[in-house]
Amino acid sequence: MTENQEVITLSHVYYADGNVSILKDITGSFLKGKITTIVGPSGAGKTTLFKLCNGLISPASGDIFFNGKRIDTYEPTELRRNVGIALQSPTMISGSVWENLSLPLTLQGKQLQEKKAKELLKLVGLEEKFLNQNVKDLSGGQRQKVSIARTLVNQPKVLLLDEITSSLDRVSQQEIEALIVRINKESFTTIIWITHNLEQAISIGDYSWVMMGGELIEIVESSRLLYSKNESVQQFVKGDIE
Ligand SMILES: Nc1ncnc2c1ncn2[C@@H]1O[C@H](COP(=O)(O)OP(=O)(O)O)[C@@H](O)[C@H]1O
Ligand SMILES: [Mg+2]
Repeated sequence: MTENQEVITLSHVYYADGNVSILKDITGSFLKGKITTIVGPSGAGKTTLFKLCNGLISPASGDIFFNGKRIDTYEPTELRRNVGIALQSPTMISGSVWENLSLPLTLQGKQLQEKKAKELLKLVGLEEKFLNQNVKDLSGGQRQKVSIARTLVNQPKVLLLDEITSSLDRVSQQEIEALIVRINKESFTTIIWITHNLEQAISIGDYSWVMMGGELIEIVESSRLLYSKNESVQQFVKGDIE
């Protein structure tokens, strides 16, 4: 096994909306098979960074690489199969869990096998019987599990998680954390997880990125986050910013 292999690398990435600078000179790598947590005040540019990483938007300047190749050399669908994303409020089509799980494949003109769907449900800790349930009858935690299962249909190499436990109760939050760690360990899926929960960032992460005002302030081992030498990071973790 190669140690410290870079799966996504950003090099001097800038992003602007019109004249408004949103991301400034972001340079850093996400390592294969690791969990990187991203923290920072709201408006720091974290979600924008994710949109860049799966090709929803393009940088104003700078380069982003996936497995050593610039992401704009991939077919958008291929990139998104490899770099999956899950959001705080997952978008669901009205209908059953089955229809929602099938979506990534039906969009590609393919069909999801029932056996595969059941395996995915099991993986995220939902019983088979959920397959026929209407998504509108699910709890927040169950919806999030379905959303994660749906992202896993394509067997992504990288999972981008944007505040996925922010609106969940503590028990659901812990279940999702355990689930993500298990996916990381069992499939060696690289995880990049935006969270405003510092405790979560520290306990789940191998590495943490601290972003503020469109800049990447520091990349630090998550266990060292509270002991950063960087003054802005110290203030942030003390809760002085936000
Ligand atoms: N589509 C957009 N148009 C204009 N401004 C945007 C857009 N998306 C994000 N922004 C601005 O970019 C900054 C970063 O936003 P975002 O990436 O959502 O931050 P975070 O996820 O860290 O809260 C914010 O100031 C936000 O208002
Ligand atoms: Mg955000």
